Amino acid sequence: MRASFPGAALAGAALAALWLTGCGGDAGPPPGAVAGDPEAGRTLIGRLECGTCHSIPGVTGARGIVGPPLDGFGRRAYIAGILPNRADTLAHWVRAAPELAPATAMPAMPIDARAAQDIAAYLHTLR
Ligand code: HEC
Repeated sequence: MRASFPGAALAGAALAALWLTGCGGDAGPPPGAVAGDPEAGRTLIGRLECGTCHSIPGVTGARGIVGPPLDGFGRRAYIAGILPNRADTLAHWVRAAPELAPATAMPAMPIDARAAQDIAAYLHTLR
């Protein structure tokens, strides 16, 4: 019996490692490299008035209810329930949502790719 103990401990460790690295639902950080600057993104979100449609933690006056609240967005698995919440996809979404989901009520925003990356980086800091 004593000989089996280390094996059991190893199996337990392997299970724990699987649990930590497994698909894990909304537990892990969103995949996709976050290349943007979150602080710049937060400033842009305020300037672009995303908050007229969304409530967004950390952005003054962002309490809109037209779109969904963006709290905890860094832990969400999906964007708009249909797209994987990767940094690159999120950047595309905030700049040109109708390109990804033609029927969406989220409008295209007048920003360049760099600004969109910064905004995505900020949204991914929301846990
Ligand atoms: C005119 C209102 C409006 C404005 C302005 C707007 N959005 Fe949206 N947004 C929406 C709506 C409506 C949805 C829901 C779209 C859907 O589910 O198809 C949405 C969805 C989203 C989502 C996905 C939310 C989720 O729960 O998955 C993100 C992220 C987002 N918007 C970010 C932004 C950012 C960042 C800005 C500013 C650059 C912005 N939005 C400006 C209306 C708006």
